[in-house]
Amino acid sequence: MKNESPIPAPLPEEEDDFLASVCAGLRQQPKSIPPKYFYDAHGSHLFDLICTTPEYYPTRTETEILERHGAEMAEMIGASSTLIELGSGSATKTPLLLRHLADDAVYLPIDICEPHLLQSTQRLQTLFPALKMHPLCSDYHQLPAHAIKHHAGRRQVVFFPGSTIGNCTPEEAVQLLKTIADLVGPNGGLLIGVDAKKSTETLNAAYNDAAGHTAAFNLNLLRRMQRELGAQLDAEQFAHHAFYNETHGRIEMHLVSQCRQEIRLNKEAFRFDAGETIHTENSYKYSAEEFKKLARIAGWHLKSTWHDEQALFNVHYLSLSAIEPLKLAR
Ligand code: TRP
Repeated sequence: MKNESPIPAPLPEEEDDFLASVCAGLRQQPKSIPPKYFYDAHGSHLFDLICTTPEYYPTRTETEILERHGAEMAEMIGASSTLIELGSGSATKTPLLLRHLADDAVYLPIDICEPHLLQSTQRLQTLFPALKMHPLCSDYHQLPAHAIKHHAGRRQVVFFPGSTIGNCTPEEAVQLLKTIADLVGPNGGLLIGVDAKKSTETLNAAYNDAAGHTAAFNLNLLRRMQRELGAQLDAEQFAHHAFYNETHGRIEMHLVSQCRQEIRLNKEAFRFDAGETIHTENSYKYSAEEFKKLARIAGWHLKSTWHDEQALFNVHYLSLSAIEPLKLAR
């Protein structure tokens, strides 16, 4: 890699964090576990498989949008900028943007999974040898402002693809959008992928792929609890359940207990009735208009929106200043 190895992660004790979060979540009624724990090495791999299934349209459609409009997006990002990618993972879509950026751009990917982060940065560095790259291993919910500060003076633009913002509640999304605004400063920008509302059938199919990768991804959370925390549980007695909740405008993902049973963890016993669930993730869907309003609460102005032919997915460019010339989407 052109630059130094990742900036040391300012993470708290990761394992204790996992244990404490799981215990707190399982004590709640209804039970839940925060989705960020999906992404150990195996979970990250399963997630990549989900993205290749025919049912999971977001990856395909967002890629199509970036392929078609990457040059316009790069133009809005501007020269001499730092592109900060949140939750970069395998960063498969990133080249579609980087190929249009000037050689003096800096790429700063942030991901919670270090092996994934290093591998993908290495790959991008080979593709774009002139670009400076500063991988940062961190949870982007606790964005380490100090790690970004030394890029002050350059225009900072956050790239947040994959509709990951949909995994926050709308309230959390506003908070995260405010955090991003603070991070990039008044001159900064945000290029963000947001899944749109559509038919329940299409949505349900996307989160219940026939190959079973989404089910395996969801169930991997229980296996990770076994592997890393020594949880005593029977993963076979839990089933993946994902469905579109129209009232809330979100996909909900759950692990459903198939019988009366308990999970033993750290000397605690968590009891389950048959049919009781652990809520593991939400994926909110927003129309362009809904997202524009949400972002406005956090201080952002929508400058441009691009979508695929079927309008299944939107990519928005937002800026903090209202006075930039408006560029109309094509
Ligand atoms: N944020 C994306 C979405 O909600 C990707 C994603 C996160 C996902 N967790 C997932 C996809 C679990 C399938 C299953 O669609």
